[in-house]
Amino acid sequence: MSHVHRPARLLDPGLCLTLRPMAYPAFFEMYRAAIKNTWTVEEVDFSTDVGDLRGRMSEAERHLVQRLVAFFATGDAIVANNLVLSLYRHINAPEARMYLSRQLYEEALHVQFYLTLLDTYVPDPDERHRAFAAIENIPSIRRKAEFCMRWLDAVQGMERLDEREQRRRFVLNLICFAACVEGLFFFGAFAYVYFLRSRGLLHGLAAGTNWVFRDESAHMRFAFEVVSTIRREEPELFDAALTSDVQAMIAEAIDCETQFAEDLVGGGVAGLSVRDIRQYLEFCADQRLATLGMPRRYGVKNPLPFMELQDVQEVANFFERRVSAYQVGVTGQVVLDAAF
Ligand SMILES: [Fe+2]
Ligand SMILES: [Fe+2]
Repeated sequence: MSHVHRPARLLDPGLCLTLRPMAYPAFFEMYRAAIKNTWTVEEVDFSTDVGDLRGRMSEAERHLVQRLVAFFATGDAIVANNLVLSLYRHINAPEARMYLSRQLYEEALHVQFYLTLLDTYVPDPDERHRAFAAIENIPSIRRKAEFCMRWLDAVQGMERLDEREQRRRFVLNLICFAACVEGLFFFGAFAYVYFLRSRGLLHGLAAGTNWVFRDESAHMRFAFEVVSTIRREEPELFDAALTSDVQAMIAEAIDCETQFAEDLVGGGVAGLSVRDIRQYLEFCADQRLATLGMPRRYGVKNPLPFMELQDVQEVANFFERRVSAYQVGVTGQVVLDAAF
């Protein structure tokens, strides 16, 4: 069974089962780090959120929340689908597939979180069904889903990555889901949550989002590590045409997300403008491009001060999560990494 042996390159077709010697220890370390960050939906306390929605929020703010939750309800399911149909199939290293298995679980957890959120926020069954059908009924959400599906379809039917063109298509799929879906659509969505938190609203949503934010940041780190591994092994794939395809893809993702922003805050939510959200997306896009080793394009500052705080929050959150991971029954020693 020659296919079980370690291939020369990460994208070479097959089912590699060789964990020792380990070719890509960085992926295994990411898997271990993810296990240490276990959380559960049951830990999130939504008790004050319902009161906020009923009594402390304007009609425009309630509309924002409803649309946001409608997007969340389907976004992670699309990512999970791509994980199985594209990434798990083609990234041929067992340690990388261990990470992807863990990520798949985390995406299911996110779906569970947003399902619980939606059930809690939208008690009326008819309204709830409409929210779950958002992908068909709400144009700004449908457009984002179509964008994802186009890049998912681009790799469908590819059993193996034998040709350069197939490898290139896979790299674009990987970059799309990491940089545009997790890195822009989700980061854009998190911005609304932290805007509301900065107003003292929806603490349950913000608490769960802290965990999701942390997970999504890790998913991106993994995907970008895969990209830089492929670049090391096959630098010829990363030519000027790829950079320009990635730039066009990111520009389109920003347009999709801006349309979503017009839908969410276009009716006038005090303190949050479509312009600021677009600039925040451009700021994030530059970070994604820099991580990919591609030139920055937008040259803008982060216009949302409450997202700066998020970095600090993440460090505090890191320690909290160790405690909660311990409480939910992770056995063995829970020790802090030397870096912290
Ligand atoms: Fe997710
Ligand atoms: Fe993710």
